[in-house]
Amino acid sequence: MSSVKNILFIGGTGYIGGPILSRFIEREDPNLSLTALVRSPEKVEKLHKLNVRGLKLVIGSHNDVPLVERLVSEADVVFSMADCDDLQAAESILRGLKRRCEVTHVKPILIHMSGTGCLADGAQGAFSSETVYSDLDVAQIETLPATQPHRNVDLAIVEADNQGYTETYIVLPGLVLGTPHGILAREGVQNPTNLAFAALIRASFKRGAAGLRGEGKNIIAVADVTEVADLVEILYDSVIANTAEVGHGRYGYHFVSSADIIFEKIVDVIESRAGKRRAFTQEELDLYFPNQPSLQAFFGDNGRADSARARALGWKPVKATEEFLLTLRDEIEHWQL
Ligand SMILES: NC(=O)c1ccc[n+]([C@@H]2O[C@H](COP(=O)([O-])OP(=O)(O)OC[C@H]3O[C@@H](n4cnc5c(N)ncnc54)[C@H](OP(=O)(O)O)[C@@H]3O)[C@@H](O)[C@H]2O)c1
Repeated sequence: MSSVKNILFIGGTGYIGGPILSRFIEREDPNLSLTALVRSPEKVEKLHKLNVRGLKLVIGSHNDVPLVERLVSEADVVFSMADCDDLQAAESILRGLKRRCEVTHVKPILIHMSGTGCLADGAQGAFSSETVYSDLDVAQIETLPATQPHRNVDLAIVEADNQGYTETYIVLPGLVLGTPHGILAREGVQNPTNLAFAALIRASFKRGAAGLRGEGKNIIAVADVTEVADLVEILYDSVIANTAEVGHGRYGYHFVSSADIIFEKIVDVIESRAGKRRAFTQEELDLYFPNQPSLQAFFGDNGRADSARARALGWKPVKATEEFLLTLRDEIEHWQL
């Protein structure tokens, strides 16, 4: 059997996916054959100009079912980092993985980006929760119903692992902040900021009042975009090395949280330039975040998570709450509408 590993990236030009794809490009490993499915022809053009050896580019959407099934069926490892709420795209990926396993008789690997939005508790900014979800506590995670944000997709992925044709790993970051680094960021190929969070800041500036849900008493998990890539890289290396501690399927949830922040602290920073805080009405939420119910909820929900699995694999995040707030202060200071 060939020792070359085929890795497929979906969402590799995104804010989170960019540093991850960059790391694999920068490995310059002749035993890795990288393919990126990219929907934007402009980004494909920019990537072509970089002339990265061993990187194949395919223009298309993850909603193109036959294309996704075919690309996935040719991969040993798939990074799915485009949209954690798109069940149809996830199902195409899973069918492709099944085909791969039927042909090679080796279980392909899926590393899927989800988020702590699944921990939503309906607080709407009214209270701070004491509950911290641990990714080692499978029973606690399994109390989350399928109706929670991202959960229908996560459950379909875990079920695929149960069926035995793939090994799945789900990575669940909290709010991701910071400046992405790596070749895609340097060359202006990837999304440079967290678009969802930027939408909150933009909405705050537009209405002349820092936006929040209720009183902003909810506590959320936060992670730095570089440290998210660190975790994914450690996870990939541990999976490939067959490290005993790596769980998959129902044991394969990996929260990414290095600090907890009470939402009102974030609002303190936004308020310094956008104007005195005022809670969003439902009409405003629908105006500024249309068709994004999980995001609307995320701004007001508690979502505290302990990354015990990743730490057991050697992940050592260093960013703390005050550094996240400083980063944010810097971003707000230079914000242009
Ligand atoms: N950012 C956060 O704080 C955060 C926290 C937790 C979970 N998440 C989840 O993590 C995932 C990635 O987040 P992100 O912040 O990196 O988002 P992002 O910057 O919007 O990146 C999404 C990536 O997926 C690609 N994509 C989107 N729709 C596609 C389609 N139909 N076909 C092919 N590619 C498509 C985008 O392509 P383009 O390059 O053309 O835009 C981009 O590369 C999302 O599911 C998000 O909900 C994000």
